[in-house]
Amino acid sequence: MTIVVTGTDTDIGKTVFAAGLTAARGARYWKPVQAGLADGSDAASVVTLGVPADHVLPEAYRLTTPCSPHLAAEIDDVTIDPERLTLPEVDGPLVVEGAGGVMVPVTRDLIFADLFARWGKPVVLVARTGLGTINHSLLSIEALRSRGVPILGIAFIGDAVEDSEATIAALGKIRRLGRLPRLDPLNAATLAAAFAANFDLEAFR
Ligand SMILES: Nc1ncnc2c1ncn2[C@@H]1O[C@H](COP(=O)(O)OP(=O)(O)O)[C@@H](O)[C@H]1O
Ligand SMILES: [Mg+2]
Repeated sequence: MTIVVTGTDTDIGKTVFAAGLTAARGARYWKPVQAGLADGSDAASVVTLGVPADHVLPEAYRLTTPCSPHLAAEIDDVTIDPERLTLPEVDGPLVVEGAGGVMVPVTRDLIFADLFARWGKPVVLVARTGLGTINHSLLSIEALRSRGVPILGIAFIGDAVEDSEATIAALGKIRRLGRLPRLDPLNAATLAAAFAANFDLEAFR
């Protein structure tokens, strides 16, 4: 089964969550479009967080500049062909990580939410627990639903904020999958332990 990991924003913990999920499921990991290579790629990060290197599929596009893929591609003089963003065929489970959030442009004619709708695979929305998350989470849920994207549930990152998490679940009519606390140190071992303690793998089958 393929699971798509998206989020309410950039830099909120999608890659860390995706690494934990990929490792726990023994899945393959795919980041279709990587924008910004100087600070390392998400594919490299998930390997340091416990995903075997041979379970990481190559990106369809690797772009230099850390900005929205549509612009990063133009800067590199690359044309993103949505046909190349077709989900790869793999044996066993696959975890796919989008870039930024659901309304981020892949090209000037295609946003990630539309790409997710084409794929038709269940999406996990990764969200902060901190202030602002109710708004960002409910907006993201609405954008996904209005395009017919199936939503598996929401995974929170950060310190517990019970009312925000419960309010998003109730108003967004979305399943709470769990919450990954801030880990210090963050490494393959601490992530695997925290993932096992805070998520039920059955929810992802
Ligand atoms: N649960 C966590 N514990 C500690 N650090 C985290 C956690 N989640 C994310 N981070 C850190 O926050 C930063 C952004 O996380 P990342 O997963 O790369 O976000 P995104 O993929 O949404 O851009 C990274 O430096 C990452 O190591
Ligand atoms: Mg990421």
